[in-house]
Amino acid sequence: MRRKLVAGNWKMNGSTGSIRELLQGILGGAAEVAAVELAVFPPFVYLGAVEQQLSGSAVIWGAQNMCDQGSGAYTGEVSGSMLNDFHCTYVIVGHSERRTLYGESDQVVAQKFAAARKVGVKPILCVGETLDERERGVTEAVVGRQLKAVLDLEGIGSFADAVIAYEPVWAIGTGRTATSGQAQEVHAFIRAKLAELDPALANKVRILYGGSVKGSNAAELLAMPDIDGGLVGGASLDAKDFLAIAKAGC
Ligand code: PGA
Repeated sequence: MRRKLVAGNWKMNGSTGSIRELLQGILGGAAEVAAVELAVFPPFVYLGAVEQQLSGSAVIWGAQNMCDQGSGAYTGEVSGSMLNDFHCTYVIVGHSERRTLYGESDQVVAQKFAAARKVGVKPILCVGETLDERERGVTEAVVGRQLKAVLDLEGIGSFADAVIAYEPVWAIGTGRTATSGQAQEVHAFIRAKLAELDPALANKVRILYGGSVKGSNAAELLAMPDIDGGLVGGASLDAKDFLAIAKAGC
């Protein structure tokens, strides 16, 4: 049985005060959704405060990005060992905003995935097609290529501690969610790709759906056999909405 993971990607939002309040709200309802693993992903500068507030609770935390290099002259970057310093369980790699706005290639994403594993931070690998790619019928080719870059570099065994998030780019922040059927189809494709290499492991890997997940559509999505949780942007900035999504996964 795969335990569901509901992950809140806060992106570049929040302040010291608003984050404290948001976490208070989440902590207040966490016991009710204990069947689900709850994780939050604040901007780097708030990781210390988030760690302090969440230590000893059931809610875990991670980072939205990291550098593929270990240390050195990389101005503005944050390394995996720094994330370890703040006891991050997870790090998101290859989010579509990183890929499109900051030019991260499949290879760079694979290197970040490798760098995270090297220091024991579990990567959440994001994959997903654009609207144009979906309309051209190349969704599986795109997702397969994004996955293959990591498999080629790190091998199937590296997914034992990793999570995959399928996030159709056209559904992110648009209010336009993939139907549960559309999402399930791609999730099943991803699992089948992994199963070609290691069926037992493929069965254990959690594959999250992301893209305009909210309380009102979460139950239907999370009920699908290959959807093991959600990577939530906008709705994760509101404790009630975030908890409603988690509740749907219980
Ligand atoms: P959204 O973002 O829920 O606001 O669509 C999801 C994501 O980018 O991870």
